[in-house]
Amino acid sequence: MPEAIAGTSRETQRYGLVAIALHWIIALAILGMLGVGLWMTGLKNSPTKIEVYTWHKWVGLTVLALAAFRLLWRLYRRPPAPLPAPKWQLRAAAVTHGLMYLLMLAMPLSGWLQNSASGFPLSWFGLFKVPALIARDREAFAFWQQVHEWLAWTLMAVIALHLAATIKHHFIDRDSTLTRMLPRLRSGSRPQDHKDQP
Ligand code: HEM
Repeated sequence: MPEAIAGTSRETQRYGLVAIALHWIIALAILGMLGVGLWMTGLKNSPTKIEVYTWHKWVGLTVLALAAFRLLWRLYRRPPAPLPAPKWQLRAAAVTHGLMYLLMLAMPLSGWLQNSASGFPLSWFGLFKVPALIARDREAFAFWQQVHEWLAWTLMAVIALHLAATIKHHFIDRDSTLTRMLPRLRSGSRPQDHKDQP
């Protein structure tokens, strides 16, 4: 078996194509969901509002499935070892990444719990029914609504930190933190980028 397929070693210095695709698809979906989520709650009651809420739920459930798959993939195909940096930065990066995994799952789960407590039926793109996680209950609905909103603000703060760190690594430290999470281009890869994962 070629090393690229057999290798689970952390000697590889780039993320694999699957990890890269999952990272950018989930990142785009979450950014869109945060924006649409904040916008849609201010809409007046109308068929458009119902449509937007429905799509928000469908895409949110998709993010939950993708995030769960991403976590499993990460266990199966270990990420490359961190690039050399001061200990506190390595610790901060590990905490930020851990928090993002937690929030990627908690954010859609809290939406699902909120929807369950509201008693509204839920489906996935109208293809199949999604079961309620808890019984219909007014107090539980208000609780999960608050949790969903606060998780959104927390997620925005953690994303801002993640973005700031990426910009610093790319433009100040000039290391391959960003480029190793990008698909390899014919030219322009940095010297540290020479080993691939699938
Ligand atoms: C990546 C996943 C998700 C993100 C980033 C996200 C983000 C947001 C945001 C920012 C809001 C506005 C909060 C506020 O200002 O009150 C919101 C509202 C809402 N979300 Fe999500 N959401 C996600 C997944 C889901 C899922 C899976 C469901 C349901 C199955 C859901 C159901 C709702 C509902 C019903 C509201 C409106 C709450 C209200 O009317 O006050 N969300 N979401």
